Amino acid sequence: MNGYSEKWLRQGFAWVYPAEVTAGKARPGDVVRLMSPAGVVLGVGIADDGWIAARRFREDDGPIDAALLRARVDAAWALRRDALPPDTTAWRLVNAENDDLPGVRIDVWGTQVVITLDAAALTPILDALADAVEALLAPRAILLAWRPDPREKERALPAPRVLRGTAEPEERVTERGIAFLVRPGAGKDVGLFPDMRDNRAWLAPHWKGRSLLNLFAHTGAFSVAAAMEGAETVTVDLSQPYLDRAAANFAANGLPPGELLAEDSFKALDRFRRQGRRFDRVLLDPPGHSHSKDGTWSGEQDYGRLVSAALRVLAPGGWLIAASNLGSVSPHRFQGMLLAGARKAERRLRMLHDGSQPLDFPAALHFPEGRYLKLVVCAAD
Ligand SMILES: C[S@@+](CC[C@H](N)C(=O)[O-])C[C@H]1O[C@@H](n2cnc3c(N)ncnc32)[C@H](O)[C@@H]1O
Repeated sequence: MNGYSEKWLRQGFAWVYPAEVTAGKARPGDVVRLMSPAGVVLGVGIADDGWIAARRFREDDGPIDAALLRARVDAAWALRRDALPPDTTAWRLVNAENDDLPGVRIDVWGTQVVITLDAAALTPILDALADAVEALLAPRAILLAWRPDPREKERALPAPRVLRGTAEPEERVTERGIAFLVRPGAGKDVGLFPDMRDNRAWLAPHWKGRSLLNLFAHTGAFSVAAAMEGAETVTVDLSQPYLDRAAANFAANGLPPGELLAEDSFKALDRFRRQGRRFDRVLLDPPGHSHSKDGTWSGEQDYGRLVSAALRVLAPGGWLIAASNLGSVSPHRFQGMLLAGARKAERRLRMLHDGSQPLDFPAALHFPEGRYLKLVVCAAD
């Protein structure tokens, strides 16, 4: 390994890139000792053959065995055990590198648990992880899912599958008492983003009697949370199946669904502007990148344009709620994008809340990718 990766490994970073490997050969899944050019052991990891050459699981020279994995899962649980909000059954038990289990996410969806791996090279530790989860939570089912990596487009990942127990395709979970219907075995379509939980909680006292335009709304979690507090909601997503699930989420809480519109968010904004329709709150939570028949969206290039369009339908004194889950966009840069959009729309924004991830999505300071989520609430003039 060269000096560059030695510096990072000494700071606690868990990845070694292929270009940093100067000696030694390993197959994906092999346990490898990581050594500095001077022969000092920098830890032990699991080799891979993709854009990461090895993920380090320990900083000393020891085995990656069931005891180590169990200790890591137990430590993650200890952090969360007394700290999750009340009446919340959808949460993350292990947040990968940020909980010293690189490439491993473990999510709890009510009575079912999903272990999501970043790479097939991690398969050898799967059984021990499932044992640790079983011992702690005794879930009705443990499922395995794979996390697609945009840097490895050509690699097709297998479909999620049941590892243990009997899975239910749909499960009712709660977030601070609000019900959501999720599909734990649906890979990227589970249907709820618990990393937004604290932001929904922050917004809760500010909905009563307000109108909300929720764009890129997915299965409507923010709309349901707002309607629970007395907001009138318009929920927009390109996908009718997601909107059907939003309707089911409203119904699960005994609420009428408000307006549900299967439409491109930019088109909806344009129409509302032309109609002179205004909202007290406009929420933007676009994907990082997307392609549709209406064009291509990049959360890095196009956010300013989206903000200026949103501000044109925001009532005077209204609030813009803008989110980005791109780790490559820093909080500072994100605020710059919002400012650029505000300038274009000739509005001024005052930041009221600068939100990120909840406690069960910790972000290790030695792992810069860990803090990816931004949700900024601004009052507009
Ligand atoms: C990051 S998710 C939003 C998460 C959601 N706010 C929540 O808390 O559950 C992005 C959503 O944007 C939708 N989408 C992507 N491009 C869109 C577009 N141009 N117009 C409307 N929706 C779009 C996708 O279908 C997806 O449901």
